[in-house]
Amino acid sequence: MSRKVLVTYATKMGATASIAAAIGTELRKAGHQVDVHEITDVKAVSEYDAVVLGSAVYLHRWRPEAVEFLRRHEDQLRTRRVWLFHSGPLGPDKDQPQTMPPNVARLADRIGAAPAMTFAGRLDPDSARGFLARRLAKGELAGDSRDWQRIADWANDISTTLVRAGT
Ligand SMILES: Cc1cc2nc3c(=O)[nH]c(=O)nc-3n(C[C@H](O)[C@H](O)[C@H](O)COP(=O)(O)O)c2cc1C
Repeated sequence: MSRKVLVTYATKMGATASIAAAIGTELRKAGHQVDVHEITDVKAVSEYDAVVLGSAVYLHRWRPEAVEFLRRHEDQLRTRRVWLFHSGPLGPDKDQPQTMPPNVARLADRIGAAPAMTFAGRLDPDSARGFLARRLAKGELAGDSRDWQRIADWANDISTTLVRAGT
């Protein structure tokens, strides 16, 4: 059964945007109608059956626009299937799952969403923005740790759940 799915993301340096795009591609391949939008471009979620929402992690926090989105759309999200992910770990820590920041965990709980899936991130000198990021992009954290197969597998699990549940 084809469902209408929103994949939305909050990014600073673009890595999370590409993860969202990859999730969207897999869900489309499975036959769903999918919109992929940056979170600041989404005005409403009412037209969607399900929402996949991701944020980059900076200093253990989600991007403020992602937190704001969860707050603003809490009532609508509560009545939909919602999957959360965050993009962050790099270098030697790339396989370490990140816990959700407490403010996000509280919102996820109220919405009824499972804890966020952690995907490794990317930090490279070409896309790094800001003094600290540019500096870190020269060290051991530099590089693209995103695991496209893992991302596709997760998207396919979502698709299976949507089809099975018929929601
Ligand atoms: C200053 C700075 C702080 C970061 N803090 C975290 C962090 O607390 N946890 C984490 O998992 N990743 C952290 N990262 C890694 C980023 O989340 C990673 O590069 C991510 O893929 C960036 O996503 P974006 O390109 O969508 O903004 C940090 C990166 C920078 C530059």
